[in-house]
Amino acid sequence: MSMPDTAAAPPREDTEFVRFWNEVLAPKFTRFRHVLVGGLTYHSEAVFPKLPVREGDRVLDVGCGWGDTAMKLARIVGPQGEVVGIDCCDAFLADAEADLKKSGLTNLSFLRGDAEVALPEGAFDFAFSRFGTMFFANPVAGLRNMRRALRPGGRMVHIVWRAPADNPWLSMAKEIVLRHLPAPGEDARTCGPGPFSMSDEATVRKMMEVAGYTDIAFERVDAPVRVGDDVEDAIAFQLAIGPAGEVFREAGDLAEVRRPEIEAALAKAIDAQARDADGIVIDSSSWVISARNPGD
Ligand SMILES: C[S@@+](CC[C@H](N)C(=O)[O-])C[C@H]1O[C@@H](n2cnc3c(N)ncnc32)[C@H](O)[C@@H]1O
Repeated sequence: MSMPDTAAAPPREDTEFVRFWNEVLAPKFTRFRHVLVGGLTYHSEAVFPKLPVREGDRVLDVGCGWGDTAMKLARIVGPQGEVVGIDCCDAFLADAEADLKKSGLTNLSFLRGDAEVALPEGAFDFAFSRFGTMFFANPVAGLRNMRRALRPGGRMVHIVWRAPADNPWLSMAKEIVLRHLPAPGEDARTCGPGPFSMSDEATVRKMMEVAGYTDIAFERVDAPVRVGDDVEDAIAFQLAIGPAGEVFREAGDLAEVRRPEIEAALAKAIDAQARDADGIVIDSSSWVISARNPGD
């Protein structure tokens, strides 16, 4: 496998977005791992049985986070295959490494890297990303790197959120918080273009064509996602992560002053949502996008 030549190149500084993942989002995501992993899993459970992955394949998982999907993929490809999970966030990778040690898997490794900058080239049969590509500030660069990571004829699947209106689990809380706080300014610190940056089918199809893919297909997956164990947990989740969390964080001291009225409004809206055995659930909707690397 040809890896990026890190020995020859001077170390590259992290981008603002990578620093944001490491400095701001990592502790918040880690606190709500119980919500996020369960929440995101439905959107991959529906597609995993259909993924074009076989025993013996070499697979790349981009923006692998805590490594849940990388481990699933490692079990599918078996001991003759190999999976590499890549992520730009040290804390997620440390947790992924700890889980890997316990798993007994010998065909999985994790790499720290920025997929928009470089990925191992030409090495993989299949590239996958569950809710990782939407955070690319330069999506064509990141998607092109993923394509170049594939052998000619190799396939990729990435899962991204559809529009805010189809994802009340994120958009409802933002609308409520915006009734009490100003929208973030242009200088707001963010993790990139945000969770809905790949929601528009026509735009993403064009991005993928420009990145060099063929056989591009979109499949819609609708599913309820878990937003918290109970109302209190769900409020804390919404004020920490995602679009509502961004509004709240950026409002600084004003957010703390208005916290009681915001929490009361959120409590009312969240309490009206459905429940399953694990907690409160709200509707969500994703695109499962598949494509092929025709070769250069
Ligand atoms: C919403 S999380 C999804 C994590 C994981 N795929 C999952 O489904 O549990 C997005 C992940 O993408 C990673 N990420 C964002 N931009 C990235 C980049 N340019 N290169 C590598 N990883 C990136 C973040 O660190 C984070 O772990």
